[in-house]
Amino acid sequence: MRRIILSTLLVALSAFGAKAQTPVYLDATQPLEQRVEDALARMTLQEKINVIHAQSKFSSAGVPRLGFPDFWTDDGPHGVRPDVLWDEWEQAGQSNDSCVAFPALTCLAATWNPGIARLYGKSLGEEALYRGKDMILGPGVNIYRTPLGGRNFEYMGEDPYLASQMVVPYVQGLQSNGVAACVKHFAMNNDEEFRNQVNVVLSDRALYEIYLPAFKAAITEGKSWGIMGGYNLYKNQHNSQNEILLNKILKGEWNFDGVVVSDWGACHSTDEAVKYGLDMEFGTWTNGLSAGTKNAYENYYLSTPYLKAIQEGKYTTKELDDKVRRVLRTFFRTTMNRQRPQGYLCSEAHYDAARKIAEEGIVLLKNTKGVLPLNLSKAHNVLVVGENAIKMMTVGGGSSSLKAQKEISPLDGLKARLGSAVHLEYERGYVGDTTGNYNGVTTGQNLSDSRSEAQLIADAVAKARKADYVILFGGLNKSDYQDCEGHDRKQYELPYHQDRLIEALAKANKNLIYVNISGNAVAMPWVSRVPAIVQGWYGGSISGEALAAVLVGDANPSGKLPFTWPAKLSDVGAHALNAFPGTWRNGTKGRNGIIDEEYKEGIYVGYRWVDHAKTVPTFAFGHGLSYTTFKLSNARISAKEMTQDGNLTFTVTVTNTGKRAGQEVVQLYIHDAVSSLERPYKELKGFSKVSLQPGESKEVEITIDNSALSFFDDKAHAWKSEAGKFTALIGTASDNLPLKVNFNLK
Ligand code: BGC
Repeated sequence: MRRIILSTLLVALSAFGAKAQTPVYLDATQPLEQRVEDALARMTLQEKINVIHAQSKFSSAGVPRLGFPDFWTDDGPHGVRPDVLWDEWEQAGQSNDSCVAFPALTCLAATWNPGIARLYGKSLGEEALYRGKDMILGPGVNIYRTPLGGRNFEYMGEDPYLASQMVVPYVQGLQSNGVAACVKHFAMNNDEEFRNQVNVVLSDRALYEIYLPAFKAAITEGKSWGIMGGYNLYKNQHNSQNEILLNKILKGEWNFDGVVVSDWGACHSTDEAVKYGLDMEFGTWTNGLSAGTKNAYENYYLSTPYLKAIQEGKYTTKELDDKVRRVLRTFFRTTMNRQRPQGYLCSEAHYDAARKIAEEGIVLLKNTKGVLPLNLSKAHNVLVVGENAIKMMTVGGGSSSLKAQKEISPLDGLKARLGSAVHLEYERGYVGDTTGNYNGVTTGQNLSDSRSEAQLIADAVAKARKADYVILFGGLNKSDYQDCEGHDRKQYELPYHQDRLIEALAKANKNLIYVNISGNAVAMPWVSRVPAIVQGWYGGSISGEALAAVLVGDANPSGKLPFTWPAKLSDVGAHALNAFPGTWRNGTKGRNGIIDEEYKEGIYVGYRWVDHAKTVPTFAFGHGLSYTTFKLSNARISAKEMTQDGNLTFTVTVTNTGKRAGQEVVQLYIHDAVSSLERPYKELKGFSKVSLQPGESKEVEITIDNSALSFFDDKAHAWKSEAGKFTALIGTASDNLPLKVNFNLK
């Protein structure tokens, strides 16, 4: 439809012949801002109001009279969500809205490979184009504060620097197709339980050093055209209409010129939406207060109520014009970009991309006695155990749920790779969630199994005794209270008696391999009794093949944890200080209550807390093994001193000392020897992934500037670095940094 409107208009215009008669806003050779002003000047008040709120569940209106088509958003962030009905959440029932499911963003972050993030964004953008979507609701970069966070699987881990480095190329790759990114959920959207009612209280220092940098990078470096305000509150204002976050920081300090989109139903007041930075209102429950009324988009806070208030003189059109300018910019960047390609859906190239991301993100957490990779000359009998070996994971988890064209399960991936030469058996081991649907998309799997817990374990153990290898696929899934939008996890322990199953299998077979499928860390009380542990994430369409490739050694694992894997919950700052999930204000628990959640741990999130509280995690941030070995040596520095506006380059020799080709991530952390404000012991400020053949050496360079030495000074409200001594700690994990280089800041 949109293409027809646009081309009819262009034909009509060209019938008049001369280019001079092409209106400025339609002339792609004119500067963007002039086109925006020209279009704005032609719009009526009603047309302006029409473009700043939804007209269906996922779309907003264009300006048909001027040739601007509808604007279509869609989730995000792991693939293009299937279409729902115009005014309902139910499926539209189309047969051409399946997609490639890319691995979850935790897996992407675990690649520590910005090139892979670009490939992710570009491939997803091509799928979006083909499906007629102009904005993808993602990526998510909320910081991993506690392993109980229900949506951590959709985000990029605990470290602001890593998340920044990974989000920028994702956004750029996506937008290179003329599809807008909508980075979410701005900001401190770290709780799912009562997510509309959590009021986050934190220091400016924690805000600027931990929770904002990835958003800032997405906006100022990635040039994201969109951002989504969170559901939660900050300084007692909902984040989709928040004076400090949206007006002062995003649009003021970062000069954001794109659109602020509300989370679905996150707009609560016309006045606040008008004044505090919201540009496009989506998903509001009909009259804004309750669910039920159909096609009530004219009742949205930024629709008739706003129009009337302008007509009655309560507001001038100053705020409205600012919002419309942002929407128009977004139109010119997306729907009005005539260079946009057509896109592809479910292409081989996209499956290849999904495979690369999954293979590079898988983390080999533990591998004693060389249990992995499987020795195929000895592997005559392999037993696969666990619901997660067969359960489809692309359906579920909330708004990121997909209708994948295909999903290869771990069991099928292994069967295909091992072939008929290996006798492969399967045992369930535990029964978790046997349902498989989200919003009308069903997996069609029948997972019911009526055996008792004792029987399930006994059956698995009996077969495990006879197997050469036992591979257990367990972990979480995307059901409520696990890795799923809407709720946080209730416990750190694995659900569904998996701990008992693992202990029993470890006793029955010395070659037990545990593959954890999740987007979160889980308690591993049996860690010392299981020789091989792999973090498999939610790998999307190609998950099973990627896991099989790593398990048999076709792919050499190179993923690194994007978050700390604590031994117990009390080793996490937020829990040690009893600062999650906050307290109901004045006993107001209920629909209208507010939970105040003070981030008492401040800047000490993840490995920063590990250093601060001297805890020992099960696996450290940045940890991940390989089937080969690497040696880092000869750390050098370009100068002993750095000036305030200068930079320094560190060079390290990395050698593959093993027998297989592989990739290693060189990680550089900065330690500030003396500081006027307390600082984390170390902070990640550079990394580089390098690929090496056996015996090969390469020089890896990492350059830092002043920003790597700076902290946010609350009082001065400014980033600041102080002259003096610093140390660069270089290695391959936050707990393995053997090389130290001292330098001075002048
Ligand atoms: C989620 C967003 C999502 C939106 C639209 C909300 O519930 O928080 O992440 O983009 O729904 O589905």
